[in-house]
Formats: sequence, C-alpha cells, structure tokens
Amino acid sequence: MHSVSIFLPDDRATRQLGKVLAKSLPKRSVVLLEGDLGTGKTTLVQGIGESLGITETIVSPTFTLINEYTQGRLPLYHLDLYRLQPAEIEIIYPETYWEWVEVPPGITAIEWAQRLPYKPSDYLNIHLTFNLEGGRQAKIERVGELDFDLGILDSEFPNLNLE
Ligand SMILES: Nc1ncnc2c1ncn2[C@@H]1O[C@H](COP(=O)(O)OP(=O)(O)OP(=O)(O)O)[C@@H](O)[C@H]1O
Ligand SMILES: [Mg+2]
Repeated sequence: MHSVSIFLPDDRATRQLGKVLAKSLPKRSVVLLEGDLGTGKTTLVQGIGESLGITETIVSPTFTLINEYTQGRLPLYHLDLYRLQPAEIEIIYPETYWEWVEVPPGITAIEWAQRLPYKPSDYLNIHLTFNLEGGRQAKIERVGELDFDLGILDSEFPNLNLE
C-alpha cells in the first residue's frame, strides 16, 4: 500500500492525523505538505509537534521561512515556502533539513512543498484539499524507502480509503 485517502471532518481531525503520524515516523523523516491556502497544513504540523512533546505554540513560518523546535522527543524543523519561487528555494539549501549533516536528525515538515525545485529521495507526501461538504480530504503517499507503514492509520481513521 503506497497511498491512502482520509476524510478530516474538522480541525481536530487534522491535528489528530499529525499526532498519529508523528508517533510512528522514524528519526530523519520528511513530511511534504501540499495544498491550497487554508487547507490545514499548519494544523497538521501542530499535531506532529504535540506528539513530539513540544509545548511551544507552533505558528506558520511564512515570514521566517523556518522554525526549529528542539524541546521535544525529536527536533522538529518546520519550513514554509509560500513566499518563495523555486529558484529562490534552491539558494536556501532546503536539503540541509533532510541530509542531517548540519542539523541534528529529527522530523522535517515543509508547507508548500510543491514549490521545491527538487525533493528528498524518501518522504511522506500529504496533499490536503477542501471537501465540498465541509472538512478536508488528506491524500497520504509514502515515497521511496521511508520506514513507515500507512496501515497504522487504519485503526485510527475508520473512513480511510486505500488507493
Ligand atoms: N479538517 C478540517 N476541517 C475544517 N477546518 C479545518 C480542518 N483542518 C484545519 N482547519 C482550519 O482551517 C484553517 C486553516 O488552517 P491552517 O492554517 O492549518 O491551513 P494552512 O494550509 O497552513 O494555510 P496556509 O496555506 O495559509 O499556510 C484553520 O482555521 C484551521 O482550524
Ligand atoms: Mg500554514
């Protein structure tokens, strides 16, 4: 199974998805978040942070580009590429946050990942979209060799669809 789709009726569900994912994501994981303005990318990262034991408030680094949270079980690197064009992103070396040479290994979450000019080899891709009747839809895809079993979402989200 490489991809699943989950209905998220409210922001609590989006946050819960982040929590469940972070419980099982290994150190050195990258989560690429795609989706239009306001689809819930930051909300999901807040759930990841909560699961890692980060008590600081996680806000979108729209202007700072990156926020680092080091007080949890693993460091969390939260990037937001909204304000950048692919050519500008190249200059900031996003690979710093998935090569784990210059920063201690942890979890990297990148909002507006569709703007990346190149991507890591292994990652979890999450595409959030608005649902017509309210809520959001999350399509989650495991790419490359990431050591993560999408099957764990089955018990937490009964309305999960396998693709
Ligand atoms: N499943 C959901 N159903 C309804 N509302 C949701 C859901 N998930 C998150 N929201 C709400 O959507 C709004 C936008 O969420 P959020 O800021 O996380 O989106 P975003 O994708 O990070 O936006 P941006 O593109 O501006 O970074 C918030 O008010 C949040 O509470
Ligand atoms: Mg955001």
